[in-house]
Amino acid sequence: MSAACLKFQPIEKRVNMAEQREHWGSKLGFILTAAGSAIGLGTMWKLPYIMGQNGGGAFILLFLVFNFLVGIPLFMAELVLGRKSQRGAVGSFAQFTKEGSSWSIIGWMSVLASIIILGWYVVVAGWGFNYILIALSDSFHGKSVEEIGAAFDLFRKSGDLNILWQVLFLAANAAIVLGGLNKGIEYWSKIMTSSLFVVLLGLAAYSFTLDGFTKAVEYILYPDFSKLTPKAVLKALSLALFTLSLGYGVMITYGSYMQKSDDIPQTSIIVGVANFFASILIALMIFPMVFTYGFEPQEGEGLIFKTLPYVFEQVPGSIIVSVGFFTLLIFAAVTSSVSMIEVSVANFIDLKGWSRRKSVLVTCAIVFVVGLPTALSGSGAVFPHWEAIFGKDFLGTTDGLSDWLLSLGALFTCIFVGYVLDLDALKQAFTDGSKLQKLFGVWRFLIRYVAPAGIILVICQSARLFEML
Ligand code: PHE
Repeated sequence: MSAACLKFQPIEKRVNMAEQREHWGSKLGFILTAAGSAIGLGTMWKLPYIMGQNGGGAFILLFLVFNFLVGIPLFMAELVLGRKSQRGAVGSFAQFTKEGSSWSIIGWMSVLASIIILGWYVVVAGWGFNYILIALSDSFHGKSVEEIGAAFDLFRKSGDLNILWQVLFLAANAAIVLGGLNKGIEYWSKIMTSSLFVVLLGLAAYSFTLDGFTKAVEYILYPDFSKLTPKAVLKALSLALFTLSLGYGVMITYGSYMQKSDDIPQTSIIVGVANFFASILIALMIFPMVFTYGFEPQEGEGLIFKTLPYVFEQVPGSIIVSVGFFTLLIFAAVTSSVSMIEVSVANFIDLKGWSRRKSVLVTCAIVFVVGLPTALSGSGAVFPHWEAIFGKDFLGTTDGLSDWLLSLGALFTCIFVGYVLDLDALKQAFTDGSKLQKLFGVWRFLIRYVAPAGIILVICQSARLFEML
């Protein structure tokens, strides 16, 4: 046995921890939980408007390619790391390296990134509650698109309302994560992700009956490559990583709850395909509505909070459609945010030996505080000059910061798995329980060369190295 391989032998204490660790209740349970983490605000909020701004079908095509060449291989790498170590993000890197090695910094970075992103994530997801209430009270009835847009701006200025929904959303998350892996996260993700697909199929079928459906299909199927700038290419890559929940330690943590008999390659491919399928369904649901009512796909960030609420008002059964849509948004967001909360909870449990209860409460308290500036930034109550100084509002800045951390976390994960881990042990970690063992060679190639190269390109773009393009 090679020396590096010996590193895979857990010390006694680690074995005890691994024994106590909960594992996924079923294969389907894990697939739905991982797919739930993947399908979130990135898929429902970011992807449609970014796709609209960047050439529609051409963008989706690239998004598909990156999903398969970079996203899914990295997804497998994170699961491999987590399952082999049976530890959270920080512990996973520490497990395979010498004491005090700087590799655990990568684990800490992912915890930090997930907290930063949760800060804005819970606020934006909370807006969904606001829009469900608006739909139920029918208060947009008969309003113009300008009035509906202005109502969103007014809502953003209302710090108290933003905090109210943020707290409510966070409380729902805490309740789920407190339930533990099987009775909390897995149980609720199974229910929410499967209902998400049902509602999504229902709404897409509804869009099928609208006049704009053919135009939307054409828009998606006949890509306009002239709109595909180099920046858009790189955006497709970073979005592929984001929507697969990579680079934040989530899949390392979820992988640590897998058993030797679980099939990592197969599960990863299923989740990757489900995530892509959901993205297409969301586009097929949103764009027919947008086209039918004379809007352009490039409506920008306000697409789902300004344009869509107006569109919903025009269609028959508007209350059902809009409540359905915003419930979908909340379900998608909850199953993603619980996965990020679990990253930090698992670390507190692993490293500090805290109870789940204490770990959840401390994590949620931190997320609440980190989210306050996003909740209040629209009102100008905090950082009134932020945008003038940093060029972006607070939400945009934190989102940008977490993009950086995501890219770096993803890159180092590729390097760690592709170059630092011992080959024999890695092969075993990948193939254990799998029917797709033959994929090992291709996967290793992708994780050593293709994925890091792609991620380095994204980092260069974030660093404005392609400004001349
Ligand atoms: N994949 C989620 C989405 O699309 C976001 C996410 C990123 C969740 C990273 C967990 C970790 O919204």
